[in-house]
Amino acid sequence: MSISSGKPAENNTSRVIVLGNEKGGTGKTTLAIHLLLGLQAKGARVAAIDLDGRAAGFSKFLENREAWAKHSRQNIYTPPFFTVSPSQNKDVAQREQEDFAAFAGAVEKLEHISDYLILDLPSGDTYLGRLAHSMADILITPLNDGFLDVNILGDVDDEDFSVKHINPYGKYVLDCLNRRKNIDGKGFTWLLVKNRVSSLGAKHKLKIDKALNNLAEKLGAKIATNIGDRVIFRELYAMGLSVFDVLDKQTGVKATASHNEAKKEVLDLIEYIDSK
Ligand SMILES: Nc1ncnc2c1ncn2[C@@H]1O[C@H](COP(=O)(O)OP(=O)(O)OP(=O)(O)O)[C@@H](O)[C@H]1O
Ligand SMILES: [Mg+2]
Repeated sequence: MSISSGKPAENNTSRVIVLGNEKGGTGKTTLAIHLLLGLQAKGARVAAIDLDGRAAGFSKFLENREAWAKHSRQNIYTPPFFTVSPSQNKDVAQREQEDFAAFAGAVEKLEHISDYLILDLPSGDTYLGRLAHSMADILITPLNDGFLDVNILGDVDDEDFSVKHINPYGKYVLDCLNRRKNIDGKGFTWLLVKNRVSSLGAKHKLKIDKALNNLAEKLGAKIATNIGDRVIFRELYAMGLSVFDVLDKQTGVKATASHNEAKKEVLDLIEYIDSK
């Protein structure tokens, strides 16, 4: 989808991957960072837009990366990115107009120079968030492995885990999907990613999986590969690095077997995304 023109993508525009979930703290920014650098490690041209201009965790990571590249004198790739902060205009129509212009302006500068454009969203329901959801090629919703997160999509029966009703975020995405279908007749692919999955609690996991499968079916979403709960996914943030970078003496972080598993999880997710 070409966001700046609002038309279906031409061959030379990027694939837009949006990280969205109305609930906070589920791993949107963490996955945005790792997908960006994982795709770059695979040789793709990547670019980023941080639509969470208040917290700006994605932008801060990329600024940390630029600073680390300078300080370490290593040849570290620093992707182009923009931060879009919501307009503070008191007039709603003006505010939306300003938000649209800022968003479209950022996209216009990046969509023709990247194969993948990664958009990180804030939690909650915002105009910028709706705009980004509607313009996604792939929407990724990370969920922590528990009912508190799964219920953001819908409520399920506590015995057979059948869907009782769809909750506001589920309806929000379906609404964005319908609006998108009205534009290009295709919509977007919605992927649910279980994040921070631990190796413990097999019984609980089975229940979560049943509930999530039922919700995904009802919502037309797909369940992608999982991402584990690993320190390395947060350990390198301040340096702007990831498991895809060289971890030498300068970083003070030793490469371990868990790092290779972390890398594999991200690459598996990329492979899953590319298969959609
Ligand atoms: N797979 C993971 N392993 C370990 N820690 C993780 C993982 N994913 C996320 N975290 C940690 O969980 C916290 C929340 O993650 P993150 O900030 O990415 O979520 P978010 O959805 O972007 O939050 P917000 O809605 O506030 O923007 C952070 O401290 C992050 O480092
Ligand atoms: Mg975030």
